[in-house]
Amino acid sequence: MLRIVVCVSGGGTNLQAIIDGVKNGQISNTEIVQVISNNGNAYALKRAEENGIPGICVSPKDYEDREAFNDALLETVKRAAPDLIVLAGFLVVVPEKMIAEYRNKIINIHPSLIPSFCGKGYYGLKVHEGVLERGVKVTGATVHFVDEGTDTGPIILQRPVEVEDGDTAETLQKRVMEQAEWILLPEAVDAIANGRVEVKDGRCRILKNRKDRGVS
Ligand code: GRF
Repeated sequence: MLRIVVCVSGGGTNLQAIIDGVKNGQISNTEIVQVISNNGNAYALKRAEENGIPGICVSPKDYEDREAFNDALLETVKRAAPDLIVLAGFLVVVPEKMIAEYRNKIINIHPSLIPSFCGKGYYGLKVHEGVLERGVKVTGATVHFVDEGTDTGPIILQRPVEVEDGDTAETLQKRVMEQAEWILLPEAVDAIANGRVEVKDGRCRILKNRKDRGVS
């Protein structure tokens, strides 16, 4: 069983997609052992509670400085003894110590096709505003491993989504979630849980599942 910790800051629709995936069998060999939010009011914590998953808030506001917060966050993660940490809309810069300790064991979902519209300043609606401003016709979402850079880690999965005439950042955000994020994140977790993700020289390879390979 892959033990996963899911880190959230807001609504938690991506967390919900993972919860649903575990329930309906789309994600196998996986247990969500802890949800961590930096925001006590995040609706994601409610989703955890409703599904019997331990939820906890670790907020920078409760600590003297960033270092104390970072230490508390890492301690909370370690206590849950995860095999994988999933950042599902987690608006916190992950401490370097945590990245070093969990190399290729932290994944993030980003609402664009990396390397477009990513990096510093591209979060939330700003990503979709950037897409509309540039006038690209296709956007999408990316699941990637987290390294020391911003959105620079090895790419696991990507899925394109069309930009439509008349889109606003809000309509585009919704379509990217529905048509890409909520599909990709469960798929990535399942692939990792079943040993189908290989990382070599900074690039990922997804091995096909037994069914696709014609093995029953
Ligand atoms: C998603 O768009 C995700 O790609 C980004 O933050 C948003 C989180 O949404 N990293 P939710 O909290 O999962 O609903």
